[in-house]
Amino acid sequence: VSWRNRNITAPRSTEISSVSTSSFLSDFQSKCATPLPVLKQVADAMESDLRSGISTVAGASLPMLPSYVDSLPSGNETGIFYALDLGGTNFRVLRVLLRGKEKRVVDTEYDVVTIPQELMLGTTEELFDFIASRLALFVEKEGDRFQIPKGNIKREIGFTFSFPVRQTSIDSGILIKWTKGFKVSGTAGRDVVACLNEAMERRKLDMCVSALVNDTVSTIAGAHYWDNDVMIAVILGTGTNACYIEDISANPKLRHLNSTSEKTIINTEWGAFSSNLPLTVFDKDMDIASINPGEQIFEKTISGMYLGEIVRRVLLCMAETTELFGDSIPEKLTTPFSLKTPDLWTMQQDNSDELTVVESILEESLGVYNPSLHSKKVVVEVCNSIVTRGGRLAGAGIVGILQKLNEDSKGAVLKKRIVVAMDGGLYVKHPHYRIHIEDAVSELLGPEISNNVVIEHSKDGSGIGAALLAASNSKYN
Ligand code: GLC
Repeated sequence: VSWRNRNITAPRSTEISSVSTSSFLSDFQSKCATPLPVLKQVADAMESDLRSGISTVAGASLPMLPSYVDSLPSGNETGIFYALDLGGTNFRVLRVLLRGKEKRVVDTEYDVVTIPQELMLGTTEELFDFIASRLALFVEKEGDRFQIPKGNIKREIGFTFSFPVRQTSIDSGILIKWTKGFKVSGTAGRDVVACLNEAMERRKLDMCVSALVNDTVSTIAGAHYWDNDVMIAVILGTGTNACYIEDISANPKLRHLNSTSEKTIINTEWGAFSSNLPLTVFDKDMDIASINPGEQIFEKTISGMYLGEIVRRVLLCMAETTELFGDSIPEKLTTPFSLKTPDLWTMQQDNSDELTVVESILEESLGVYNPSLHSKKVVVEVCNSIVTRGGRLAGAGIVGILQKLNEDSKGAVLKKRIVVAMDGGLYVKHPHYRIHIEDAVSELLGPEISNNVVIEHSKDGSGIGAALLAASNSKYN
C-alpha cells in the first residue's frame, strides 16, 4: 500500500501537551482495573439488583422477566421441530429431529442468514417479511423429506428472540425495547409472535410458534436436556444476558403465573445492570454516542458488540494526546466501530517478535501505518485491559447469581455440583475471556467452593433448546 492510500486526515493537535504513552496507559489501566474488592462490589450489587428486580419493587434496575417456561424438556420429546434464532447480526433457522430418551437429537440441519443492516433500522413489517421469506426457503428446500401430518397441523417453531420481552404466555410476548444494534420502528409494545405470524400468513407459510423464548432460556433448556445440574445460562455474544431457575413460591411477583410447577426460569436481562462498575471516560463517551444512551451499561462494558469500539476510543485518545502513532490521526481511527472485537483476540495472540499481526490489523482496521514496536505493545496492553475487565466482570455477574441462589437455598446450592451453561460468539471464540471469567469466579468464591461450579460451553444449546421447548409446549400433543 502506498502512502497515498493511507487515508490520513487531521494532523495531531500540537496544542495538547503531550502525555507520555506509559503514564496514559497506567492511568487508564488503574481506572478499569478489577481487583478482588471491585469484583466483590459488583457481585454483591448484582445479587441485590436481582433481588429487587424479582420482588415487586418499582423501578428496579433489572427487569427479571418471567419466561413462562416452568418445566424443562424431559428428553422424551419426539418429532420434527423448527427453531428460529433472531438476536444478533445473523439469524438462523434450524430443523431438529427428536427421537426420545434413548436416541435424543438425531438430526439437525440449519441455515444462517445475515440480516442486512438497513433491516435492523427499518420497519417491523420489513424485518419480519424478510425472516418469513427465509423460513419459506428453508422449508422449500426440504422437498418431501419431512412431511408433516395431514390436517390442520402446522410445522411448530421455537422462536428464540433475544431481546427483552414481557411474556404474556409461552407463545406470546411484548417487546419492551430493542437492544444491541437494532432499532426497528413500530415493534416495541407489540407481540413479536403476532408480527411473525402476520408475516408468515402473508406468505401462506404453514408454520406456527409454539414457544417464544430468550436465547438464555433456550440455552438453559438445551443444556439441561443433557445435564440436570444446569441452573444458570449465560450468553456472551453481541450482547450479554443470563437466566436461572427460580422458586415460584418464594416470589410474590411470580405467584400470579398460576403455574403447577414449583420452579420457573427468569430472564434477568442483566445487560441492563450498571451498579459499581469500574467505568472509564471512554465507556461513558461510547454510551453517550450509542443509539440507546444510559441503557445496557453492563452489556456495553463486557459484550462483543462493544469491546473493539472501547479499545478504538482509547487508542484514538492516546493518538491525540501522546506520541503513540506519530503526528497524524488516520481517518479510520476516528470511525466508530472500525475495530471489531475479534480483532482484539487476534492481536492478543500475536507472539511474533515484531508483532506483525498487530501491525496488519492496525493497518487494515485503523489505517495506522508503521507503528513502532513499543506502540504495538501498548495497543496489545489496551486490548488486554479491556478484555480482562470484561471477562472478570462477567465472572462477578455469575457469582452474583450464585450468591442469590445459595442464600435462598440456605447454603445448599454451592455445596454440590452446579453448572453454568455458556454460549455466544465472544465466549466461544475468545479463550482469554473464558479464563478471566473462571479466575474471577474462583477468586470470589475461593478454590474449594468454586470447584463445585462448572462453567461450560453449551454447544448450540440455544437452537436445539428452542426446538425442544417447541416440542414440550407442542400445540398438538
Ligand atoms: C441483549 C438482549 C437480551 C439477550 C442478550 C444476548 O442483552 O436484551 O435479551 O439475551 O442481548 O443475546
